[in-house]
Amino acid sequence: MAKPKSKKGFHTLSGNHKKYQLLDRMNQEALLGGGESRIAAQHKKGKLTARERLHMLLDEGTFQEIGKFVTHRCKEFGLEDQRYLGDGVVTGFGNINGRLVYVFSQDFTVFGGSLSETHAEKIVKIMELALKNGAPLVGLNDSGGARIQEGVVSLGGYADIFYRNTLASGVVPQISAVMGPCAGGAVYSPAITDFVLMVEQTSYMFVTGPNVVKTVTHEEVTSEELGGAMTHSSKSGVAQFSCANEIECIKNIRQLLCYIPQNCEEQPPAYEYQSIKEELRPGLNEVIPENPNQPYDMRDVIQGVVDEDSFMEVHKNFAENIVVGFAYLAGRSIGIVGNQPASLAGVLDINASTKAARFVRFCDSFNIPLLVFEDVPGFLPGTDQEWNGIITHGAKLLYAFCEATVPRVTVITRKAYGGAYDVMNSKHIGADLNFAWPTAEIAVMGAKGAAEIIFKKEIAAAEDPEAALEAKVQDYTAKFTNPYRAAHRGFIDEVIYPKDTRARLIQAFDMLKNKVCKLPPKKHGNIPL
Ligand code: HXC
Repeated sequence: MAKPKSKKGFHTLSGNHKKYQLLDRMNQEALLGGGESRIAAQHKKGKLTARERLHMLLDEGTFQEIGKFVTHRCKEFGLEDQRYLGDGVVTGFGNINGRLVYVFSQDFTVFGGSLSETHAEKIVKIMELALKNGAPLVGLNDSGGARIQEGVVSLGGYADIFYRNTLASGVVPQISAVMGPCAGGAVYSPAITDFVLMVEQTSYMFVTGPNVVKTVTHEEVTSEELGGAMTHSSKSGVAQFSCANEIECIKNIRQLLCYIPQNCEEQPPAYEYQSIKEELRPGLNEVIPENPNQPYDMRDVIQGVVDEDSFMEVHKNFAENIVVGFAYLAGRSIGIVGNQPASLAGVLDINASTKAARFVRFCDSFNIPLLVFEDVPGFLPGTDQEWNGIITHGAKLLYAFCEATVPRVTVITRKAYGGAYDVMNSKHIGADLNFAWPTAEIAVMGAKGAAEIIFKKEIAAAEDPEAALEAKVQDYTAKFTNPYRAAHRGFIDEVIYPKDTRARLIQAFDMLKNKVCKLPPKKHGNIPL
C-alpha cells in the first residue's frame, strides 16, 4: 500500500479517508430521504419512494443525480433544525430505452414532498438543462404543495417552474406523472405539460380540496371523487392516462417516449421495417356493417392498419367518441385520430374536439405525421353543446388541423357530413392525401335530413308523404351518399379497397417523408382557446 503523503498541502490518506467517510455518510443519509419510518409509511400507503420510482423508470445504472446535498434555507417555525439532504426532490438525468431524459421525483418523506425555494431551484435547474440539451423532461409528482413554513418564496418557486414549463412547451416533450397529492396551484405545472398520468386510488389533483368544496358549495365529495385518476381521465380530461398502479404508470411513460422525438428539431424514432408480405389486410373489407347506422369499433380499423401491437391509445376514457393515439406504420411513428362510431355514433362534441385538437397540436409540435380515420355524422346538436361553446371548441380542432405542417393523410371509412367533413383533416385545410373507402358517404348531411329540408313542400303535398319521402331519400342517397362526387372534384385523391389501406398508407407516408411546409411568419397564432 502507498504511504500517506503529509507534506505541503497534501492530505494524509487518513485525512482523505475521513472525507470519503463523510461523503459515504452523506450519500447514505440522502438516500434515506425523510428517514426509515416515513419510508415505511409511504410503502404502507401502497406507494413507492421517489428513488424507487426513478429506479424503475430509468434504464438500469443510468441515473445521474444532481443536487443530492441541497438543503432548504428556511429558519422559521423550527425548520433550521430539520434539514434533509435533497430537500424533498430527487433530480437528475438518465436514459429511457437508451435515450436521454431529465427527471425529477418528489420525495413525500421529506416535508410531504412540499415545494420549498430550494426544491423549486432543483427542478428549474434540470428543466433548463432539458431545454438547452433538447431532451424530454419527466416529472414524478407527489407533494403536499407549497412548503407552508416558507410562504411566498415557495409560491415564487412554483411560478419559476410554470414559466419554464411554458418555455419548454413545444421544444422538448414534457410528461407528468401524479403519484400522490397534487393540490392548489401546484396542479398547473402538470397541466401545462404534454401528458398527465395518474395512479388510481393513491393520487389526486384539485385546485381546492374536499374541505373547501364543502364550505363553499356544501357538496360532500371524497378526494378520489373530486380529483382522482378516474375522475380526471374520464370526466375532466385533465389526465390522459389512468393507471392501475405505479408500475403500470411508469411502464406507460417508457412506452409513450418510444413514439416521440427528443425535441422539436428531431424526427420521431423509427425502426428498420422489413416485411412486405403482410400489407394486404382482407379483414378490413369486413369491418363496415351493411347497415350504415350500425356502429363498429374504429380501433378495429386502426389495429388492422398499423404495425402489430404498436397502437398506444391516449386519453382512452375521455370523449370516447373520438380515438387518439400513437402507432408505428412500417416502422415509423405516427399519430392517429379516428372518429369512433361505437360511441355516440362518432359525433364531434366539445370534449372530442378539445381532446383531438390537443393531440393534433402535440403531434405537429414534435414532427409526428398524422393519420385520420373519418366516420362522423356531424357536430352534436343541443343547448348543452351550444351554450358551452361548441363553436369555439370545435374551432380548436379545425384550427389545429389547419395549422399542422406535418404529413397528413385522411381515410374516410363511412360518414363525412357537414362541417365535420371540413374539420376532419379535409383536403381543403391542408391534408396531403385523402382516401375514401367505397362505403364513404360524403355529403352536407344524411339523406333523410336532406330530403326533409329540400323537398319539404313536395313531400307535404304528396298523396302518400311517407312514400314520397322515401323516394326522395333514395334519390339523394344515390346522388350523394358515396365517395364519388368528392372524387370527381379531386377532394378525394383515390377511392381504395379497405384491404389495401395499409399498403396505400405506407406508400403515402413514405412519399411525404420529406415534406416541407411553412406557415406565414407571425409571432404566434391566436387559437380559439
Ligand atoms: C410543509 C408539509 C406540507 C406542506 C405536508 N407536510 N404538507 N410540510 N408544507 N405543504 C408535512 C407534514 O407536516 C408531515 O410532516 C408530512 O409532510 C406528511 O404529511 P401528513 O399530513 O402526515 O400526510 P398525509 O396524512 O398523507 O396527508 C398529506 C396531505 C396533508 C393531504 C398532503 O399533509 C396536507 O393536507 N398538507 C397540506 C396541504 C396544503 O394545504 N398545501 C398547501 C396548498 S396551497 P412530518 O414531519 O409529520 O412527516 C399551495 C399553493 C401553491 O400549494 C400555489 C402555487 C401557485
